[in-house]
Amino acid sequence: MKFFIDTANLAQIKEAQDLGILDGVTTNPSLMAKEGITGTNNILKHYVAICNIVDGDVSAEVIATDFEGMVREGEALADLHPQIVVKIPMIKDGIKAIKYFSDHGIKTNCTLVFSVGQALLAAKAGASYVSPFIGRLDDVCTDGLNLIDEIRLVYDNYGYETEILAASVRHTMHIVECAKLGADVITAPLSAIEGLLKHPLTDSGLATFLADYKKGN
Ligand code: E4P
Repeated sequence: MKFFIDTANLAQIKEAQDLGILDGVTTNPSLMAKEGITGTNNILKHYVAICNIVDGDVSAEVIATDFEGMVREGEALADLHPQIVVKIPMIKDGIKAIKYFSDHGIKTNCTLVFSVGQALLAAKAGASYVSPFIGRLDDVCTDGLNLIDEIRLVYDNYGYETEILAASVRHTMHIVECAKLGADVITAPLSAIEGLLKHPLTDSGLATFLADYKKGN
């Protein structure tokens, strides 16, 4: 399973990259705003800064909601750096744009996916990644993980190559459950990724080993 970090924070991206387990980054307009990155030029520069830290795909989202605008913005984003993946919302013109980019060899991430039908359309259009938002489904009392399971089934039925990128991951167990269900990628905050490290028996076991070593030396 690939690990992406879901942030526009350069320090956190570097920390995950230094851990040696990072395969990519996802951003969205809210995450850019959270870091205080505003204005087209600053946003574009920030994407390049992210690409220069991480070895892997970096999702950069279009703001336009019409086909021509998405194509224009997406082509400009893709020109920024070879690691850029154009992130396109799951709307009618978005599907047309995904098909356009797929035909032109530009990678896409279909975002804001909340149903298996939407995921099926994204795959038909040739999306490189589909992003089901599991945490936001959980927020409205709907089983987000079940959506991962259903998309896996449908994609495997037909051999779609679109990678399932579990998004809106809120905690460590989401990552573990997505791995069990066969998600190709998870994108998560650094805290959820670092949660995978933790076990009290590891801490107490290590403390004992170190104490016993000291006794004999
Ligand atoms: C995915 O690409 C999105 O950036 C993200 O996972 C959304 O997560 P949220 O629901 O925590 O905002």
